[in-house]
Amino acid sequence: MAAKWYEHAVFYELYTRAFRDSDGDGFGDFSGVLEKLDYLADLGIDAIWFPPFYASPLRDGGYDISDYRAVDPRYGTLEDFEKIIRKAHGLGMKIVLDLVLNHTSDQHPWFRESRKDPTGKYGDYYVWADDDKGYAGTRIIFSETESANWTYDAVRRQYFWHRFYKEQPDLNFDCPAVHEEVLGIADFWASKGVDGFRLDAIPYLYEREGTNNESLSETHAFLVKLRRHLDEHYDCVALLAEACTPIPENVKFFGTDSLPECSLCFNFSLASQLFAAMKLKEVNRLSAVISELYGHLPQNATWSNFLRNHDFLTLELLSPTLEAQMIDWYAPPQGIRNSGIARRLAPLLGYNEAQLRAVTALLISLPGAPCWYYGDELLMADDPALPDRDSVRLPMPWADADKALADSGSFLNWFKETLAFRRKRPALLTGDLEILDGTCAAVLRFRRTIPDKDTVTFEIDFSTDTYRWY
Ligand code: NOJ
Repeated sequence: MAAKWYEHAVFYELYTRAFRDSDGDGFGDFSGVLEKLDYLADLGIDAIWFPPFYASPLRDGGYDISDYRAVDPRYGTLEDFEKIIRKAHGLGMKIVLDLVLNHTSDQHPWFRESRKDPTGKYGDYYVWADDDKGYAGTRIIFSETESANWTYDAVRRQYFWHRFYKEQPDLNFDCPAVHEEVLGIADFWASKGVDGFRLDAIPYLYEREGTNNESLSETHAFLVKLRRHLDEHYDCVALLAEACTPIPENVKFFGTDSLPECSLCFNFSLASQLFAAMKLKEVNRLSAVISELYGHLPQNATWSNFLRNHDFLTLELLSPTLEAQMIDWYAPPQGIRNSGIARRLAPLLGYNEAQLRAVTALLISLPGAPCWYYGDELLMADDPALPDRDSVRLPMPWADADKALADSGSFLNWFKETLAFRRKRPALLTGDLEILDGTCAAVLRFRRTIPDKDTVTFEIDFSTDTYRWY
C-alpha cells in the first residue's frame, strides 16, 4: 500500500470529544483514543480521520479554530497526540486530520488583530467590506441561525464575510500571506507524521462578484498549489475534499492527471441516493449516479464512500420531489435543520439489521475508500432533541461494544468479518467496475474485475434487503 495508501483504505471518523473518556470528566480524550486503537485495528480500520481537536471556543464543534498548532487541553497534549500517531502507525493505521482553511474562529489572534488594525500585518487576512452589499445572492449555509453572510464589526467599522456561523470569519485567499500561513499549518502536522488532511468546506475559499462563490477556478488553482507543495515535501500525504456539490463540479476537486488536486472526495451524491433507493426500492437513479460517479476519475483519485458523518444527512443534492420524500421518510418529529436530517445510521433505518448489512455491503463493494462514522458499527442511537448536530455526536457506548464483540451474531462482528472478506478479494479493492443489468427494478448488480486475477459480482435487492457476492 506504499504509494497510494488511501486508494481503498477503510477510514473511520473519530470524534475525540465523544469517543473515549479515559478520566471520567465527561469529555473524550487522547488517552481514551490510545486505549482504543487496538479495537480499531482489530475492526479492520486502515485510517482514522480526526475532526478538529485544536484550540477552539467550540462554537462549531471545533471547526472554529483559535490556534491551528495547539490541541484543546481538554483532550490532552500535543505529545499525547504524537503518541497516537506512533501507536496507530505501529498498528498499520494512517492518521488524517481536518484542515479547516476557509475560516478561523473569531477568537483567533489573526482576526483580533485584523479587527483592530486594517493596515497592519493581519489587515487583509479576512474578507472586509464597507457595506454588506457584495456577493449578493450567495446562499446561507447555516440558515437556521444566520440571516446573512456579512456581519458588522463595531471595532473595525466594516463588515466581514462568513459562510458559516458569524463566529467563523472567512479567510481571504486573495492575500498571499494567508497561503503561506495555511501551507505552514499543513507542514506543521505533516512533519509530525500525519498521513492526510480532510479539507473542510473547500469550495468556499474564494469570492468573486457575480458568481455563487462556490468551487471557483481560483479555489482549484490553490488546491493545485497545496497538492504540489505536499508532494514535493512528503511521501503521499492524501487530501480528502469535503465538497457537497453536484457530480460534475465535485469531480473537479480531483483535478486532472497533469494538475492533481485532491486524492479523495467525499461521495455526497452516493450517500443521498442510497438513502433514497432504500425507500424507493428501485435502482434506476442510483445506478445512473454510480455510472456517472465512476465515469471519469483521474489517476490516483477515488471516492470516499460514506453513509453518515458528524453533520446532518444532507438533502441538498436531491431533486425537490425527492428532498420532500426524504423528509417524509427519514426526518424525526423535530424536523429538519439547515436543510438536513439530524439522525444517525441505525435509527434512520429503523434498526433494520438486514437493511443495514445490505447497504453496508454495497458501500464497501464499490471502488474507493469507505468512510465509517464512529459508533455506527454498534448501531448507535442518536438524540434528535439535542441542539445543532450534538444529536449525532453522543458518547460511544463502550459497554455495548464489549457485548457485541462477545456475540458472534452481532452487527459488529459481521462488519468486522465483512471488512476482512473485502481485504481478501483483490477485485473488491482495486478491480474495475462494470454495472450489470439487474433482474428486477429493485436489484443493483455490478462486477469488479482484475483481468486474469480476480472477479467478484455484487448484488443487492432493495425490495428484500438481501445481498450477495459471487
Ligand atoms: C463542514 C463540517 O463538516 C461541519 O461540521 C462544519 O460545521 C462546517 N464545515 C464549517 O466548518
